[in-house]
Amino acid sequence: MPSGPAEPVPDPPDGDPNRLWWDERAALHGQDAIYDRAGFLAGASTLTRLDAEITGDVNGLDLLHLQCHTGMDTLSWLRAGAAQVTGVDFSAVAVAAARTLAEESGLAGRARFVAADVLAVPAELRGRFDLCYASRGVVGWIADIEAWMRTAATMLRPGGRLVLIEMHPLFVMVDSLDPLRLGFPYANDGPRHFSASGSYAAPDAATQHNDTVEYGHSVGEVVTAAATAGLHVEHLGEHLEVETDVGRGLLPRDADGLLRWRVTGELLPVLYSLRARRPAAAAQS
Ligand SMILES: C[S@@+](CC[C@H](N)C(=O)[O-])C[C@H]1O[C@@H](n2cnc3c(N)ncnc32)[C@H](O)[C@@H]1O
Repeated sequence: MPSGPAEPVPDPPDGDPNRLWWDERAALHGQDAIYDRAGFLAGASTLTRLDAEITGDVNGLDLLHLQCHTGMDTLSWLRAGAAQVTGVDFSAVAVAAARTLAEESGLAGRARFVAADVLAVPAELRGRFDLCYASRGVVGWIADIEAWMRTAATMLRPGGRLVLIEMHPLFVMVDSLDPLRLGFPYANDGPRHFSASGSYAAPDAATQHNDTVEYGHSVGEVVTAAATAGLHVEHLGEHLEVETDVGRGLLPRDADGLLRWRVTGELLPVLYSLRARRPAAAAQS
């Protein structure tokens, strides 16, 4: 499967601050602890035990990765046994980096990367995938979670499954653990505007485009959106022990190597996981 030619990387014509933010961060990511390009090219996978546990066997599957960023997780699914992978991201810079990584890792023949908004994925991809995967830092960029779930449902073949592994909204609320300070809504109350330089993977980088618009989505909103999109929920997990806090740097690592969020000694969730299936007999357009 051809990765496609490199595309020019224009500024978003609509001036969407989130795209400007991500274009700039995608160019920075790759030489850091979160996005270890050299390690990936040496054969490492960026997927976690949780990804494997929730997703199950991917052997021979045609996989779609929504909001794939620079493609490390997408390409890691090929190393885990997927037959073909397609990554979608609205950042042309991220997509160009993913295509380069696919070429350099010798995986380009089974990988395709598409620059598109997740709510406007090209129609020719509809109904083509056995598995739609998205993870860690995706839904917070989306105003309309029902539209996001419709995209996921529409891209699946009948019987195909969605796997979403996301930061738990309770954990996303936290600005500081000690003292405990919250700076984000648990559920969607409209757009929230932020401005910060650097990124979770390159915190000290001097960046030019620092404004973002983000949205809270409660677990209830996400699961209801999946059901409304016609998906059958098979699994909902809330994870108290995780391998990474996705660059937030808030959690201490315990002696067993896992991260846990404790408040007055009690554990709180850091990630959640959703697995939902498009019914085999569903009639979707
Ligand atoms: C935190 S990253 C995803 C992380 C990914 N799991 C990884 O570790 O590489 C979020 C991605 O969502 C993409 N994104 C944000 N809003 C989007 C939208 N409306 N359509 C498509 N991609 C979007 C960004 O460009 C970025 O690459």
